[in-house]
Amino acid sequence: MMEMRFNPVAKLEGEAKPPGDKSISHRAALIGGISRGVTRAVNFLVAEDTMRTLECMGKLGVSWSLEDNVLNIEGRGFDYLREPDDVLDVGNSGTTIRLITGILASSPFLSVITGDRSIRSRPMRRVVEPLRSMGATILGREDGDKAPLAIRGGKLKGINYEMTVPSAQVKSAIALAGLNAEGPTTIRGDQGSRDHTERMLLYLGGDLKVSRQEITVNPSSLEAGTIYIPGDFSSASFILAAALLLPNSSVILKEVGLNPTRAGFLSVINSMGGMVMEESLEELSNEPRGNLLVKNARLSGVEVEGWRIPSLIDELPLLAVIGTQSEGETVVRGAVELRVKESDRIKAIVSQLRKMGGSIQELEDGFIARGPVKLKGTKVSSFGDHRIAMSLAVAALCAEGETVIEGWECVDISFPGFVDCLKRLIR
Ligand code: S3P
Repeated sequence: MMEMRFNPVAKLEGEAKPPGDKSISHRAALIGGISRGVTRAVNFLVAEDTMRTLECMGKLGVSWSLEDNVLNIEGRGFDYLREPDDVLDVGNSGTTIRLITGILASSPFLSVITGDRSIRSRPMRRVVEPLRSMGATILGREDGDKAPLAIRGGKLKGINYEMTVPSAQVKSAIALAGLNAEGPTTIRGDQGSRDHTERMLLYLGGDLKVSRQEITVNPSSLEAGTIYIPGDFSSASFILAAALLLPNSSVILKEVGLNPTRAGFLSVINSMGGMVMEESLEELSNEPRGNLLVKNARLSGVEVEGWRIPSLIDELPLLAVIGTQSEGETVVRGAVELRVKESDRIKAIVSQLRKMGGSIQELEDGFIARGPVKLKGTKVSSFGDHRIAMSLAVAALCAEGETVIEGWECVDISFPGFVDCLKRLIR
């Protein structure tokens, strides 16, 4: 296991460009692979999770090449995917296993899909159940709730589906299956999860109707296109948080994806008194982006729950760190989904911040942090979870003394250049 050592720094200053968006990169690979023609994805994230998606698409007979951060992927529609001659291995990637299961469910062959220990413990019934009701045969441990999954796909029929968890991965799996089904598929009760799939399908000519209440996907084929992928808002958030917390810091984050279903963290930070400005806003490939100007600020506690949660789900561990450094109480509730991410993120972040002397307490569906309390460097664990590792790195930068983060290698899942990016900003 790799260890990374962090020492407190005085401030961050300068400009940084976060890597390509992970969610959109996965979708470019998956949707590009079922479109007709060569899809070019510019600023594709080259990281462990997204490489897994490309490898899986390769095993399904899709050819692709990567030159620096430009992906060229040649699809010939759903019908040209072929039966893989080996198990598909998604590694640590929940987005890969859930979204590709939607594609495989409508493909007339057998595939077996698995992943690492974390993936094999994460719930799959949420995608398996609706795909079964569309007509797919899916077997797995615990009656199909746990990978490995064996999928015997075929001709599906459209369904009306009421979501039971606010998950973009579930919504996307059903929508992808619906593209190749008979009749329309309607999804209701989404509660504002990220909408990158809907945006990309519309961009590439998919026949779907999207409203606040429901999404209807009609069977349709997609035409290849060029997809300009913005910087990853979640990756940018680690740098943004460090700049907010370190006195006299001032950082510009360039070309960051600002999709409102992803950027809920910004409004929470602003309500805590944070200084974040948006600049040079534009829309490319149906996704908004812009630069973020962030300065150190004194923050006060905030309460986050309910409808706001999906738009900042991946930033909640980082908000726990910020909560320990803000005046008063920061309360997060209604975020039980955090317990079934790459790790149990509530347990992971609360236990490690407590080790550093933070005042924070676990709730069944969130946490309560009280601050500001000066953190102390010590040995902490990433729990093998990239977002926990980087959240703890932010905590380490504003702690006293040295912090050693065990299991650092998981950062390569989403942000391989994180340490270099940070080093260039340290003054
Ligand atoms: C993702 C959706 C979210 C998020 C994950 C990526 C996606 O999960 O936590 O990191 O790309 O669709 P859920 O959709 O399960 O909430």
